[in-house]
Amino acid sequence: MITNMKSLINIAVVLVATVALVSCSEQGKPNFQYMPNMYEPVGYETYGEYEVFAGQMEAMLPAEGTIPRGWMPYDYEDTTEGLNLAKAELTNPLEVSLESLAEGKALYDIYCAVCHGTKGDGQGILMQREKILGIPSYADPGRNITEGGVYHVQMYGLNSMGSYASQTNELERWQITQHVMNLKAALKGEPLIAPKVATEETTEQELESMPEEGHGSTEH
Ligand code: HEC
Repeated sequence: MITNMKSLINIAVVLVATVALVSCSEQGKPNFQYMPNMYEPVGYETYGEYEVFAGQMEAMLPAEGTIPRGWMPYDYEDTTEGLNLAKAELTNPLEVSLESLAEGKALYDIYCAVCHGTKGDGQGILMQREKILGIPSYADPGRNITEGGVYHVQMYGLNSMGSYASQTNELERWQITQHVMNLKAALKGEPLIAPKVATEETTEQELESMPEEGHGSTEH
């Protein structure tokens, strides 16, 4: 009898405690937190507003004059004068090699061939389907395509051609440029910057078996 009384009291205590706990909970707000540190960060939130920071903003601007890692400043302006200046004086810092030509061709076929065609004659699939008009051949004498110009239009785009500065890095743009200059030479029947131009049909083995040294614009 006594043990029964005891367990009854125990049950009553547990019931009261449970009801007390549950009745305190409010829907829509966090419930009682046993270890608040687990829920409430001690550090500042990345984009939070705090008075301790200048402008009350945790996320601060980079110090003036800094550039992101891997980014090379490009000094030519996005104007016709900038393009002409780049055409006249900017040269490809990459040495001509079959490796960079092969890389350039692969990237060119991804990014440029839809418009300019794999041969660079301006007959890409979008031109054939008349989605984009006015795509020049790299051999167009009026264009005077040079390394610097090819790099420049990849940085900024030109009218209906977009910029490739965010899809490609500096090295890749110069590799593409090398391939474009090779395509131009092939179109004009001039000596290639590499002994053989890489085309759509060129296989990896053929690329490897091409002789190493090129002629043409290797001097910078
Ligand atoms: C959406 C179609 C399109 C794509 C993709 C494209 N271009 Fe062009 N590109 C054009 C058009 C159109 C022009 C002519 C622009 C003008 O003169 O108004 C042009 C012009 C050029 C010129 C001539 C610039 C000059 O000096 O007159 C070069 C070089 C060139 N593109 C290179 C490239 C390279 C390299 C790529 C790939 C990274 C590329 N283009 C991707 C449409 C394209």
